[in-house]
Amino acid sequence: MPKYFIGVDVSTTASKALVIDEQGNVIATQSNPHELSTPRPLWSEQDPEEWWRAASASLRAVLQKVSPDDVAAVGLTGQMHGLTTLDKDGKPIRPAILWNDQRSGAQCEAITRKVGAKKLYQIIGSLLLPGFTAPKLLWLRENEPESYKQIAHILLPKDYVRYRLSGAYAVDVADGSGLGLLDIGKRQWSDEMLAAFDFPREWFPTLVETTEISARVNEEGARATGLKVGTPIVGGAGDQPAAGVGNGIVSPNQVSLTVGTSGVAFAFSERYNPEPDGRLHHFCHTPGAWMYMGVMLSAAGGLRWLHDELMPKASYDELNQMAASVPRGSLGLLFAPYLTGERNPHPDPLARGAFVGLTLRHGLPQMVRSVMEGVAFGMRDQLELLRVQGVNPTSAVISGGAANSPVWRQLITDIMGIPLYTVNTQEGSAFGAAIMGAVGVGAYKDVKEACAVMVRKVDEFAPDPEGVADYQRLYPAFRDLYPALKATYAALAQFEM
Ligand code: XUL
Repeated sequence: MPKYFIGVDVSTTASKALVIDEQGNVIATQSNPHELSTPRPLWSEQDPEEWWRAASASLRAVLQKVSPDDVAAVGLTGQMHGLTTLDKDGKPIRPAILWNDQRSGAQCEAITRKVGAKKLYQIIGSLLLPGFTAPKLLWLRENEPESYKQIAHILLPKDYVRYRLSGAYAVDVADGSGLGLLDIGKRQWSDEMLAAFDFPREWFPTLVETTEISARVNEEGARATGLKVGTPIVGGAGDQPAAGVGNGIVSPNQVSLTVGTSGVAFAFSERYNPEPDGRLHHFCHTPGAWMYMGVMLSAAGGLRWLHDELMPKASYDELNQMAASVPRGSLGLLFAPYLTGERNPHPDPLARGAFVGLTLRHGLPQMVRSVMEGVAFGMRDQLELLRVQGVNPTSAVISGGAANSPVWRQLITDIMGIPLYTVNTQEGSAFGAAIMGAVGVGAYKDVKEACAVMVRKVDEFAPDPEGVADYQRLYPAFRDLYPALKATYAALAQFEM
């Protein structure tokens, strides 16, 4: 009898259901979009009902292709950090406040001061950022006391879908890490952080490990989705840790580089060892493991900006040809890629983009190559932070839009100085969640054993020794850019309104 595993990904733009078999072959996939609302500058909100409507429709669609009797487990993943508030009857009180909402800067500063920065990084494994859940909840107490008074349960986006499927209030430790309320080293709620925020412990869901069975589909969940009553639902993980599993990052020194709209360097760690200045996210991962994550807010998004603003009629093939026609170093032009502020390694919302070194010899082709190089150097910064934490990769997985451009991919490979390779699936997060489902019901001993079967290397790209040497000479100049421009960025911010 076939045995299938379903990954459900509640992302910012859509909810997807993906069915895989025991070998990791994709059997069916379906996605339904969500609306996003930005009622005020810096705000980003979504109606939890949208997640359920889209996720249940996607599940119904894939269950037309496989029998619910053959579904052995469901794993959940999705956008991290989103504050979802429910009343005592389990009804959403207001729209969820999402990961990319920036309203809670003052609350982050206040709590960091109260706990003490170094101590806080030790507990929560990272700086406390406005994207995280807890500062948003504090914002709600200070700005919407009527909503705050009704709260009985706090969930993350994918966990709202779990609740609708099963009636259970649960969160896995990997996604739970992004609340800013976990003692990440101990994989438990932090009494100290709960006290600093003055939040009642009983509002927060049961904590489970990513591959642990957290709940089972109940009658209402089954009616809405077509899943069988009793189907096990494992903990799952946030989109980045689940993509880590989907990319096969499950052993020490394995790293993945995702160069999409944003850029994420992701690494596995067997021990809890936070970056002392909180400049990487260090969160719980699969059982007994932690992860490092460095995030560039604008990566391939930088090239899209250049295209849309300066050459909207050109195809991306033409942009690639332009970049290939320019020598390494773009004739002495450097690009600072911080178009939307930065998270790592320069946590600075005021950081901005810059071309440095423009002369009369420079034109669009040099600018295109320079943007590609600046983004790659930003990813190299993440890799260097990982190395300081003891992660020493001999190769890395590459994914995201930049991986599809041969010229960009080669210069990233040269700037990283290690071979890069692609894997057999582009379904990252949903695939990783389905793998966690397979492990949860015993199809594999652990995620490592599952990934050895399901995640396969496809193409490998070697660094060019000359390219490595050229970029090694240029990298120090890139590293000097942000410190040199920091005060200028702050001065310019006054003119942004
Ligand atoms: C992770 C993060 C994003 C969101 C949305 O810290 O903010 O990955 O989960 O994709």
